Amino acid sequence: MKDAENLFAELLHHRLSKLAPGDAIIPAIQPASVFLTPSAGSNAPYQYGRFHNPTWTETEAALALLEGAEVITFPSGMAAVAATLITQTKAGDRVLMPSDGYYASRLIAERFVGRFNVTIVQRPTARFLDGGFDGFALVIAETPSNPGLDVCDIAAVAQAAKAAGAVFAVDNTTMTPLGQRPLDLGADLVISSDTKAINGHSDALFGHIATRSASIAAEVGDYRKYTGPIPSPFDTWLVHRGLETLEVRFSRMTGSAATLAERLQAHRKVKGVRYPGLPGDPAHAVAKRQMASFGFMLGVDLGSASAADRFIDDCRLVQSTTSFGGIRSSGERRAKWGDPVPEGYVRLAVGCEPLEPLWRAMDATLDSL
Ligand SMILES: Cc1ncc(COP(=O)(O)O)c(C=O)c1O
Repeated sequence: MKDAENLFAELLHHRLSKLAPGDAIIPAIQPASVFLTPSAGSNAPYQYGRFHNPTWTETEAALALLEGAEVITFPSGMAAVAATLITQTKAGDRVLMPSDGYYASRLIAERFVGRFNVTIVQRPTARFLDGGFDGFALVIAETPSNPGLDVCDIAAVAQAAKAAGAVFAVDNTTMTPLGQRPLDLGADLVISSDTKAINGHSDALFGHIATRSASIAAEVGDYRKYTGPIPSPFDTWLVHRGLETLEVRFSRMTGSAATLAERLQAHRKVKGVRYPGLPGDPAHAVAKRQMASFGFMLGVDLGSASAADRFIDDCRLVQSTTSFGGIRSSGERRAKWGDPVPEGYVRLAVGCEPLEPLWRAMDATLDSL
């Protein structure tokens, strides 16, 4: 995507205009909890560590550039999901969520937000438009959904949800702004778990909300300021560093995923592959319209739980981890967590290994099953 490439080139130099000779070219980690606020200084830009932090300012500026929106960072993706649910609902409201998205988002909505007379309704991502959005205060989509990799039409949902008076949020974790830009397609806010590809190095939990609505940004900012789900300055710094290589990593990961999807589909031990980039995939038509690339995640059905477990355990270049988006390829059999996918379905997150060694390792492991 040309726009995202230009933004990324700018992102790498975004601090330059603020630097004086002798300044460090990378941001500093500022762990201070308190800042000097003399009596004449009530407008000091930094006062107390729960309100602001100079390292947050740096990382939020970089993410804001990439999102084309105001960004509020959080200590995890779930903190960003919770902030969305809490700031965008009130007693008596109905919220629509995907029945096949990340399970913890549904769990916190039902178990905690539901206590405050907020009704949570679920709908599968592939049929997200069915039934319309009348009566919903908040609609949250996750596309492609984790782990099933179904997609919904973001522009169509945005139009219908807004006509019905709902706030429309998209969890864009599986794509990042380089692969898909929900705000450009009409979403009111984007949720991201930056623990995944944005940071990419499996060494920090992090999240953010991006929005072009000044009122949503102010509400979410106040929510963080007063309730306290704040990211640590060190993690914030790590994410700034990880973000700087996102474009290179994403391009390797998505390029490899596209090739691996085709090769895996043709392998005699593989029963089926879900990947929005495959022309025969049920998600392909919508994905082609709204995604700049088809992502780095694949769903590989190996037919049985034992074959899937053996593949993940035995493949030398696929790590068994319950996350995705890191530089190392990883796999997980998601049915073990109760996700609505076949027993032998492996969620494969393609990493940054050079393609051919990665394929050889996968191919050899599949042959041995
Ligand atoms: C789509 C999606 N959203 C949100 C989250 C939560 O992010 P975190 O683990 O950073 O809290 C995850 C985690 O896997 C996810 O996959």
